[in-house]
Amino acid sequence: MSRLLVTGGAGFIGSNFVRYVVENTDHEVTVLDKLTYAGNESSLKGLPEARVRLVRGDIADAALVDELFAKTDAVVHYAAESHNDNSLHDPRPFLDTNIVGTYVLLEAARRHGTRLHHISTDEVYGDLELDDPSRFTESTPYNPSSPYSSTKAGSDLLVRAWVRSFGVRATISNCSNNYGPYQHVEKFIPRQITNVLRGIRPKLYGAGENVRDWIHADDHSSAVLTILDKGELGETYLIGADGEKNNKQVVELILELMGASSGDYDLVTDRAGHDMRYAIDSSKLRTDLGWAPAFPDFAEGLTATIQWYRDNEAWWAPAKDATERFYAARGQ
Ligand code: NAD
Ligand code: TYD
Repeated sequence: MSRLLVTGGAGFIGSNFVRYVVENTDHEVTVLDKLTYAGNESSLKGLPEARVRLVRGDIADAALVDELFAKTDAVVHYAAESHNDNSLHDPRPFLDTNIVGTYVLLEAARRHGTRLHHISTDEVYGDLELDDPSRFTESTPYNPSSPYSSTKAGSDLLVRAWVRSFGVRATISNCSNNYGPYQHVEKFIPRQITNVLRGIRPKLYGAGENVRDWIHADDHSSAVLTILDKGELGETYLIGADGEKNNKQVVELILELMGASSGDYDLVTDRAGHDMRYAIDSSKLRTDLGWAPAFPDFAEGLTATIQWYRDNEAWWAPAKDATERFYAARGQ
């Protein structure tokens, strides 16, 4: 049994990870989460109190972080400002949390000799053309487009420097777009599902041709546990499940699975600097560490996700109106 500190564990992917850890290991988990607009205590509801405890606090609070690292065997660092559209509107919190917050964790890992796994995104690599057959690998040069992806790129580079210069025992993973339960309604898939549930037409940016490489959040979690267990210190691993789809295909599938007509959506103002295509080659993780996704069927995973939003309106409804007002003010 290990004591894990999970930063951002009340967010979308972090809370799915905590649930996955409780169900698949005997680790004890402390969640450190600031409970920003994106964090939700109720995403951890039902988990055993003897195994999971929540500490409300900021990863940039060095004294609090130091105290928690003293009682921790390993840290999995999910906490971040995570939404591209917000980063275009107000970049500052992205610098504070993604850059300064990661710096504070690295300094604590250095002082305490704590094993750290840093969670990052494939968006650090920029984007690919639609007609380009290549995919991102661990050696693709960094070329981020947005305040979000550039601060995540910065945080990755800090981790690499702390490994090399100070011997911090860290690994990094860069994952593609996640979907599943407990994702904030600001993000693409939950926004469209909850729009349909509310009788609002789904909104596609631009022409809907942008491609994302979808992976179920539980597959992300199993990959992270695999890296914690078997990953080589100092290494980066790309996580992906060969799930490339363009946004139009995803909206059409949501509409179809929800019993609506597949053309019932609106094309709206495109995102500034909108990355065209992301695609992950996860061969290193599969070959070196023996990982494979357990949820390769996107339609099946999406069906379960739609059902979760149908069943959990009390979880998402409080954020829905404000989110739609934010988008409406931008013509989206
Ligand atoms: P999210 O926005 O749903 O959750 C982020 C969590 O971090 C929230 O609970 C929030 O309260 C917490 N947080 C924010 N600032 C904090 C701070 N200063 N101190 C402590 N807690 C803080 O994000 P997510 O989609 O679950 O993403 C989690 C991580 O995974 C991020 O690092 C993101 O870059 C990465 N990632 C996300 C995706 C995706 O598809 N969503 C894909 C690849 C990687
Ligand atoms: P998003 O969930 O914001 O993730 P990311 O920006 O990290 O890829 O968006 C996924 C894709 O969906 C992206 O190409 C932008 C697009 N999108 C829409 O078309 N409509 C929407 O309402 C939203 C939120 C996103």
